[in-house]
Amino acid sequence: MGDHQSPLIWAHRGASGEAPENTLASFELAAKQGADGVELDVQMSADGVLVICHDEKVDRTANAKGWLKDYSFDALRRMDFSYGKLQYEGERIPTLEEVLDLLDPTDLTMNIELKTGIFFYPGIEEKVIGLVEKKCWQERVIFSSFNHYSVDRVGKLAPWAKRGILYMDGPIDVPAYAKRLGVEAVHPALYNLQYPGFPEACAKEGLDINVWTVDEYEYMKLCRQMGVHAIITDYPKKAKEFYAADAG
Ligand code: G3P
Ligand code: MG
Repeated sequence: MGDHQSPLIWAHRGASGEAPENTLASFELAAKQGADGVELDVQMSADGVLVICHDEKVDRTANAKGWLKDYSFDALRRMDFSYGKLQYEGERIPTLEEVLDLLDPTDLTMNIELKTGIFFYPGIEEKVIGLVEKKCWQERVIFSSFNHYSVDRVGKLAPWAKRGILYMDGPIDVPAYAKRLGVEAVHPALYNLQYPGFPEACAKEGLDINVWTVDEYEYMKLCRQMGVHAIITDYPKKAKEFYAADAG
């Protein structure tokens, strides 16, 4: 412990501590702040457009109510996704394609989380993979999901795809399970780092550890000590400044 490189910094839903989460504004700000990558949540509109939104309902982040999956893309697009952040009023829900295009000229990578935990969105894996291939982003993405059937499906459809399994609480022997699934990474909640021998077991299996959500200095430091590959944070600027200033 203590002699590791600083982890990569992935902006959680973009620079969501400052800009409205999962909007073009938040992804643009993440890029401007020097994040190494962004994490975002993909769902599908009623007419099959891949859109970026965390909750299955639009209630919290838009000026409307109900399940995202029941709205057409045009209807979603009329909503305001700035949710009270005044200088961002009028911010729209982005498509996955728009975020890929926005970040295309940068060096940023993308952690595409498939939000298939409650609604399975049949065909979403094929659509996302097709788009990533069309945009030639294969080398720049890692897929993740709490729904490991989704993660498995991505691997079967796209042998080139890097994948991580999202999880929380206390499943037993996650590194062995991840190895069995054939994924490259584990994506634990921050508190999962405290299980004894966890980073060592991941290293033994050759798995990257990408942790969410790491917003405090104390945990940024801990992640570096543990040799975490990437932190997923709401505050990429804060993380960048911390790792630049605190090298040890
Ligand atoms: O992908 C990391 C993190 O975003 C997983 O949880 O609920 O923020 O999507 P959630
Ligand atoms: Mg997410």
